[in-house]
Amino acid sequence: EKGGFKHFMLKEIHEQPHAIRETLAGRVSLDEGRVYLDPTDIPDADWQAFTRLVIPACGTSWHAALVGKVLIEELARLPVEVDYASEFRYRNPLLDERTLVVVITQSGETADTLAALREAKQRGCHTFAICNVPGSMAAREAHGVLLTHAGPEISVASTKAFTSQIVALYLLALHLGQCRGTLSPTAVMKHVEQLLALPVKLEAALEQDAAIAELSREFFRASDFLYLGRGVNFPIALEGALKLKEISYIHAEGFPAGEMKHGPNALIDERLPVVMVMPREVGHAASELRYEKTLSNLQEVKARDGRVIAIVTEGDTEAAGLAEYVIPIPATSELLSAVLAVVPLQLLAYHIAVRRGCDVDQPRNLAKSVTVE
Ligand code: M6R
Repeated sequence: EKGGFKHFMLKEIHEQPHAIRETLAGRVSLDEGRVYLDPTDIPDADWQAFTRLVIPACGTSWHAALVGKVLIEELARLPVEVDYASEFRYRNPLLDERTLVVVITQSGETADTLAALREAKQRGCHTFAICNVPGSMAAREAHGVLLTHAGPEISVASTKAFTSQIVALYLLALHLGQCRGTLSPTAVMKHVEQLLALPVKLEAALEQDAAIAELSREFFRASDFLYLGRGVNFPIALEGALKLKEISYIHAEGFPAGEMKHGPNALIDERLPVVMVMPREVGHAASELRYEKTLSNLQEVKARDGRVIAIVTEGDTEAAGLAEYVIPIPATSELLSAVLAVVPLQLLAYHIAVRRGCDVDQPRNLAKSVTVE
């Protein structure tokens, strides 16, 4: 049942290329430069008229929402607010009929996320669910659904559902861009090309598995970890930290790299592993700027004797010259780098947890889906 893998989590990490292929299948056309969502109850005119999106979610799905914010703001030029479902539902959120409320939930059964969906419907909003379980409550109740075809996810720690959610959000962003005219067919075509190249790049990212298993020897006794990233990779830093804490019980925190000076720098000493998520898109001015800034953060961590593990684009010699360890991922656009950059973080958490003798698939105190509050 685990297909030769020791744990479901490892199997699911390795299923990511397939999960992404399935999530894209039938939804993109290179010839036409278009994406196709499954039919929804939301009229075309309303798709064009949205002025804002709100995305309530929990846990890893909330991290996907933060990635989605960057994607949708960049590609469809619509403002996006991300909220914890448990905060959204107990507030008095500002919503109107031109707000699209998108819930993201692997299981489609998370109590707070369902409550957020119902609250949005009750207030007259159009709702949309990105969900991995056909027939789940979220999939049945939302006005529109985009199913991630990741297949059943057994491990409590979410992996393949997360990368599939990001790809689904990318499709949603392209769809909104198409409807609103912010993206031409030629532009959509370029994005579709990059999406279709992802599965093979994920396979390449997974080839680091053995090297990361080796690296985990060096770090599995650490008591704390810091994860840093910028832009679309800031939520990846948060996700890397969540993976590590939930399965290895090591305290870990994620921060935007630019926040270090505002407090977290005080934590750095020669015992602290700092994972820096810093892919670069060569030739993209804003991406290069973020990269340069993160590179100087790396130097600051080093100056304080922190132990840097850098996730970098293959061929990057600058970061490689400074970090204690580097894990390369294939080159892609910065927007899609999040999908590749999370893979080494999943593997690092996994191998550390295994070395610590933890119950990887069933971590203490956690349930796969939080259907009660
Ligand atoms: O099924 P959902 O996506 O709604 O679940 C949300 C969270 O409970 C879930 O992502 C949780 O954080 C995972 N254990 C993270 O690995």
